[in-house]
Amino acid sequence: MPSLANDNFINNHTTYSITTSFINQANINQVKFDELNQKAHNNYEEFWGELAHTKISWHKPFTTTLNNTKAPFYKWFEDGVLNVSYNCLDRHLRSKAHKTAIIFEADDGAITKITYQELHTKVCQFANGLKSIGVKSGDRVIVYMNNSIEAIIAMQSIARIGAIHSVVFGGFSSIALADRIIDAKAEYIITVNGYHRGGKLIELKKMVDEALINIDKNIHQIKHTIIHNRTPDLNTKITPHQDIWWNDVVDNQDKECIPEWVTSEHPLFILYTSGSTGKPKGILHTSGGYLLGTIVTMEWVFDYKDTDCYWCTADVGWITGHSYICYGPLAVGATQVIFEGIPTYPSADRFWQMIERHKVTTFYTAPTAIRNLIKLGATLPKNHNLSSLRLLGSVGEPINPEAWKWYYEVVGNSKCPIVDTWWQTETGCNMLSPIPGVQALKPGSCVSPIPGIMAVIIDENGNSIKPGESGYLVITKPFPSQLRTIWNADDKFIKTYYPQDIADGRYYIAGDSAQLDTDGYFWILGRIDDVLNVSGHRLGTMEIESAITMHPSIAEAAVVGKPHAIKGEGIFAFVVCKKDSSIKDLSQDDKTTLTNQINAIISKEIGAIAKIDEIKFVEGLPKTRSGKIMRRLLRNIVRGEEITQDISTLENPAIINTLKL
Ligand code: WTA
Repeated sequence: MPSLANDNFINNHTTYSITTSFINQANINQVKFDELNQKAHNNYEEFWGELAHTKISWHKPFTTTLNNTKAPFYKWFEDGVLNVSYNCLDRHLRSKAHKTAIIFEADDGAITKITYQELHTKVCQFANGLKSIGVKSGDRVIVYMNNSIEAIIAMQSIARIGAIHSVVFGGFSSIALADRIIDAKAEYIITVNGYHRGGKLIELKKMVDEALINIDKNIHQIKHTIIHNRTPDLNTKITPHQDIWWNDVVDNQDKECIPEWVTSEHPLFILYTSGSTGKPKGILHTSGGYLLGTIVTMEWVFDYKDTDCYWCTADVGWITGHSYICYGPLAVGATQVIFEGIPTYPSADRFWQMIERHKVTTFYTAPTAIRNLIKLGATLPKNHNLSSLRLLGSVGEPINPEAWKWYYEVVGNSKCPIVDTWWQTETGCNMLSPIPGVQALKPGSCVSPIPGIMAVIIDENGNSIKPGESGYLVITKPFPSQLRTIWNADDKFIKTYYPQDIADGRYYIAGDSAQLDTDGYFWILGRIDDVLNVSGHRLGTMEIESAITMHPSIAEAAVVGKPHAIKGEGIFAFVVCKKDSSIKDLSQDDKTTLTNQINAIISKEIGAIAKIDEIKFVEGLPKTRSGKIMRRLLRNIVRGEEITQDISTLENPAIINTLKL
């Protein structure tokens, strides 16, 4: 079990109590918190069942809460019938049709506002348009778009007609896109011709065209690509019959679209994420349970109020953008900001300007963004009126205490609680987080599981660890918002998340290690598998390694994470050249050329987000006699840690000295 944390750091913390004024207005106070926890412990199913009955508008209510007869393929609210888009839009029309649903701020500063009524109309028209071109319930539709109102319309419309979206982050390359299209067997793609991000033009339709060239038509065929004309002056290539402009899809469509009523376990989306293997896995989420998770966390963790202006800075291509842009905020009827650009464009205070301009109350971002902004200095936020803020959130990676304190003091003016939310693509919604009106905060700790989530830290045998020891973070009971399987890979789902060698496969294994402090607070230490967390983006080391070894001069590669001041984790690669280009013969120029070529391959295969920060060319990698690369050793080396493990099992122990940095 890797122990990344320093015990002193975990046990010598400062505690921040919540202000009385926040406590007095909080949705969940101590009494409610205790009641929720008590209920969850005493009658787990009733706890979730009651919430599902009250928080979701069912077309036909369910009678069975949890079906665990085929564990771990759990089913929640199985015989209930609903539509997720109905819950995000239609149910608000009676009381808040004219409330602003989305304030969209474009990269160039243009602002577009849309009410619930308008969004409903646009979703209905687009949903009708999708049906008119043949999209049916259960069909997979790729969404490859910028952060925009249209991306939300696309996702909501797909949900409305019972189809399944698979959003691909716009930073992924055409090859990565093609892999996802093929794996999901998606027949439709919704994209944008081009958009600007940080002033740079990004042409996604071109990437779609490239992806389709890479797909053998005998294996898989795309029926239609719908293109939003975001940048009208672009010369967009249109393939007749296959490509359709967004406007033509919605043209003359009816403004009402009766939702497709689906059962609670009907698939809502597939989202690909990186794991230990070379190929990303398609995480499948279904309707009722997922929706419930996003709603309760909006209310409990984000303390959502009708008067809030909520802003989650994530991209819709990641799970945070799904749960806390597309679904959670709309399901509770919030007004939210959606931003197309980057924090520092056109000026370094863009985030602070936006908070001031839109009077944002709830701001949810990633530690990497905070660290970037700290670099630019405290005067920038101080020059803006950020007094509308009342709650701050952090997600994606452990937040270092220095960044936490800056966020708390400079951005939140020492009055806004920070909810450090630990969760995953697989869990669908926040799992561990302070409940802000109740629990005191400690910088760097995500505090404890939210009510109804039975998370514990255990050793291999399933025994709870003692405070100060590190162990596996697991969730012992099924929960409504969890993934249902890996798309087309049920066996892999069981092996990855319910492995036999940890507690006999009884628990959901998160893939993170964690510690408890003496107050029972949870501290996430990091991944236990070969997954990196670079600027809050999840990347598999094997995916990167297989891209590196595509270079004709490279024999093998091992990628590990190295602590990085801004990104959290940087990508470090040990690379072995083929015999005929041994490293002894490599000049510094050769190494630079090779590095650039390798990064070009990575950009093409995965996307620029996976570019390597540092490469060390080496003669060989440390391997066991069975040929397995000992990554832990490599991790120790890049972190400058002492190597404490037994290296006598290495096939080539002498190699260690040649690897040192
Ligand atoms: C890490 C992102 C510490 C963790 C929502 C997890 C965190 C992985 C936190 C999931 C946090 C996420 N503190 N670590 N608050 N939030 N992580 O699937 O390692 O992109 O397993 O979901 O990010 O990343 P994913």
